[in-house]
Amino acid sequence: MTDTSVTELGYAYDNDQPSARRHLACLARALDDFTIGRLTHLDLTGKRCLEIGAGGSDVAVWMAAQAGPAGSVTATDLKPQHVNRHPQLTVISHDITTDPIPGGAFDLIHARLVLMHLPQREQILANLAAALTPGGVLLIEDWHATADAVVLDAATADDRNLFAAYQRAVNERVFQASGSDPQWSLRLHQQMRLAGLHDVDTVINAPVWHSGSPGLILALTAIAEHRDRLRDAGLTDADLTRVERLLISPDAGLVVRGHQLYSVRGRRP
Ligand SMILES: C[S@@+](CC[C@H](N)C(=O)[O-])C[C@H]1O[C@@H](n2cnc3c(N)ncnc32)[C@H](O)[C@@H]1O
Repeated sequence: MTDTSVTELGYAYDNDQPSARRHLACLARALDDFTIGRLTHLDLTGKRCLEIGAGGSDVAVWMAAQAGPAGSVTATDLKPQHVNRHPQLTVISHDITTDPIPGGAFDLIHARLVLMHLPQREQILANLAAALTPGGVLLIEDWHATADAVVLDAATADDRNLFAAYQRAVNERVFQASGSDPQWSLRLHQQMRLAGLHDVDTVINAPVWHSGSPGLILALTAIAEHRDRLRDAGLTDADLTRVERLLISPDAGLVVRGHQLYSVRGRRP
C-alpha cells in the first residue's frame, strides 16, 4: 500500500513547516514580477479580485493597491498565515477543493502553482471560470516540471549527475506521489477554452537558475519536508548534504534550466 490514497493527495508541502516562509518568499522573488507583468494591462480600479492559494506572494497585495478603496481583493489559502496584508485585502482560510468559491462574481481571478498540485484541477478551473463577471479575466499559472536534461553547467560530472538524480527523485517521489501533475500546464490553454473563456492567451516564462538563486533555493524544501522519500529513492544523507551546497552556495557552479511557467489567461464573454 502506498501513502497516497485518493483522500491524501494534494499539495506536497505544508505552510506550517519551518521551511515554508523561505519557500514562499523564493517563489515570490522568482515569479511575482513576471505574473504582475501579465496583469498590468488591466484597469483594476474599483474591481473585485480573487487570489487562490496566495502563499507568500505579493500578487494579491499588488492587486489590492490597484483596486484602491472602491475595490476589494480576497486572498485564499489552505493555510494563509504567510499572506501579506493590505487595507483592501481580505485573507481567508479556504480549501479550493471543497469550499464554495467566496460569494459574488469577480473581475479578476488568479491562481499560481496551485491547480497543478490538486487532483480536482479540471473542476476547479471550471468553477473559477464560472465565478467571473462578464468580461472578467482568469489567469492560471503552473509549471511544466521535467527532470530531463535540466543541467546546463556544473563544476563536475558528479555534481551534474547528482542534481539530475535529485530532481528526478523530487519530481517523482515528492510531487507526483502527492498527486501533482507536471504535464497539466500543457493542457491549460485547451481547458480554458473548454471552460467557455475567450481570447485565451499563453505565455511561457523559461528561466535559468544558478546556485544561490531563488529558483534553486526552493528545491531545499524537499529535503526539509520529505527526506524520507528522497532516501527511499536511493539518495544518501551525504548526497543530500552535497545537493544542499549545490543549491545554496553562489560559487557552487550549478546552472539549471528552470521549470517553465505556463501563464494562461482567458476572458469570460
Ligand atoms: C506552491 S505554493 C504557491 C503559492 C503562491 N501562489 C505562489 O505562487 O507564490 C501553493 C499554495 O497553495 C496552497 N494550497 C494548497 N492546497 C490548497 C487548497 N486545497 N486550497 C487552497 N490553497 C491551497 C498552499 O497552502 C500554498 O500556499
